[in-house]
Amino acid sequence: MPQDSSPPPGSSRKRDVSRRLFLQTIGISAATAAAEGQAANADAALNAGEPAIIGPKPARTSLQVNGENLDYIAEPATTLLEALREQCNITGPKEVCDRAACGGCTVLVDDRPVASCMMLALDATGRKITTVEGIGTIDNPDPLQVAMAEFDAMQCGFCTPGVVTSAKALLDHNPRPNLDEIRAALSGNLCRCGTYPNIFNAVLVASGQAPVVEPTDRGRSVSGEQA
Ligand code: FES
Ligand code: FES
Repeated sequence: MPQDSSPPPGSSRKRDVSRRLFLQTIGISAATAAAEGQAANADAALNAGEPAIIGPKPARTSLQVNGENLDYIAEPATTLLEALREQCNITGPKEVCDRAACGGCTVLVDDRPVASCMMLALDATGRKITTVEGIGTIDNPDPLQVAMAEFDAMQCGFCTPGVVTSAKALLDHNPRPNLDEIRAALSGNLCRCGTYPNIFNAVLVASGQAPVVEPTDRGRSVSGEQA
């Protein structure tokens, strides 16, 4: 005669199954509610113009870049450089070392140069971000960019956006820097092609001063003649 294997009503096995089911159910509900609450909080804060408390899941937020608000999906570990290049289509800042050693990714945050590979995008929320695209365009270049071109201050050009951005920050705070001040301001921007003399001359000329460094390659001589 077949045995009935179901536990009798009120047995401990039935209580275990019920408790597990209950915990699973509230776990799913809590996770869903947390995600929905997180997105709602982020949206509410954004609509109120305040930085949102975001994480650990991705959430929509925005950055103020070159005078525009650009939306992106933020995860807590997303760097400012990743957000700009991979989501906002701002590719002037370059990823070279990804460890604050080369300056290729330099952007201005509240008008101060920052290695964007070392800053979390969420920490840049609500702050004024300027990239090389916001300094000048091909049709309307900044005098610094004109001088960089005139002095042939680039070879591969990979360091150039970071150099221009750091130099722009210098000139905005110190319109007539001397050579030592230019060298100090650009000390975090490495140029593997070695165009430093031409870069320094370009910054001097952009600030209304005479070039003083002997150029390394083509471009003007210190007397201003074409070499
Ligand atoms: S890529 Fe950021 S400092 Fe080199
Ligand atoms: S121009 Fe090539 S790294 Fe500077």
